[in-house]
Amino acid sequence: MRQRLLTVVLGTGLLMAALGAHAQNKLKVGFMLPYTGTYAALGTAIENGFRLYVQELGGKLGGREIEYFKVDDESDPSKATDNVNRLIKRDQVDVLVGTVHSGVAMAMAKAARESNTLLIVPNAGADAVTGSMCAPNIFRSSFSNWQPAYAMGQVAAQRKHKTAVTITWKYAAGDESVGGFKEAFEKGGGKVLKELTVPFPNVEFQALLTEIAATKPDIVYSFFAGGGAVKFVKDYAAAGLNRTIPLYGPGFLTDGTLDAQGDAAQGMLTTLHYADSLNTPRDNAFRLSYVKVFKLQPDVYAVQGYDAAQLLGLGMAAVKGDFSKRNDMIAAMEKAKVDSPRGVFTLGKSHNPVQDFYLRKVEGKENKLVGVAVKALADPGRGCRM
Ligand code: BEZ
Repeated sequence: MRQRLLTVVLGTGLLMAALGAHAQNKLKVGFMLPYTGTYAALGTAIENGFRLYVQELGGKLGGREIEYFKVDDESDPSKATDNVNRLIKRDQVDVLVGTVHSGVAMAMAKAARESNTLLIVPNAGADAVTGSMCAPNIFRSSFSNWQPAYAMGQVAAQRKHKTAVTITWKYAAGDESVGGFKEAFEKGGGKVLKELTVPFPNVEFQALLTEIAATKPDIVYSFFAGGGAVKFVKDYAAAGLNRTIPLYGPGFLTDGTLDAQGDAAQGMLTTLHYADSLNTPRDNAFRLSYVKVFKLQPDVYAVQGYDAAQLLGLGMAAVKGDFSKRNDMIAAMEKAKVDSPRGVFTLGKSHNPVQDFYLRKVEGKENKLVGVAVKALADPGRGCRM
């Protein structure tokens, strides 16, 4: 009897240990994204895109099941270090995926460098993340703030505009976006007359719209995204400025926002690494699958989340799911040709996508493809020593 009891106890112990090992065997992915505030919809789209790719692969990457952890970063840089440490120290995730806001992403990159946690940035364009803060364990599946802005600066100069006023939120993304635009626009013969800003995430634009009207530039260049982009584009049109001074920007100004912007956005030209009407077999399949699962049209943020999962999947496949082979995994990710809905992209030396930037025009509820504004544009990776 005692013998049988011992066997049962031992058997149960072994079973528990096996179950424990199995649970441990899952790859832990920590989403640090905004689920509240002006960027909430962007965070959800990124998570949707990531989960969709994993789902398409039967819930596994490199043969390993995935366990998800989540933190709402609220796009608040002052809470970013505590938030990222919840994922690194409390949840002990293997991979961090985040975030949207450049200021928060820089705190994540610092924590990832210090703890050597693998980080994939699925949106935030902070130039420093793949510049002075670059590291072997930090990758980006999106863009640098410089990239779409530089493309728009070229387009504006080619369209023979001579003067511009810029308007944006006062933080890294806005500053760097204006910097990229100005670099290309002034190289092409244009002049930025004024650089206007409001604090993030403030949406009181009236005084600055009055200043734009008084300055009378040929064009306005603007970086806003999410809820702030909806409000800005509507206020710009309500002030009647869109009739005389074309409003340009990186595609964040009109991506994922057209339902809410309606007539105010019609005809706007923007540059981005995605458009709604690429009409390639790869993009059509992605869009169909996304709509089926989420009953929503995808946007650039969903694509970037999907591609963060693809990039991780390529690394995991190269080591057959053995995450301890980190160097081999990183080498495979560095060499990846990501078959993105946006078009195939590779990574530059600083781990930022080298990709085409499209010129798009708003027609109805779509950012329609006009053409390729700049082909295979690489971020300069300023300050990266890798
Ligand atoms: C950023 O903070 O880097 C960012 C936020 C929203 C859209 C694009 C960039």
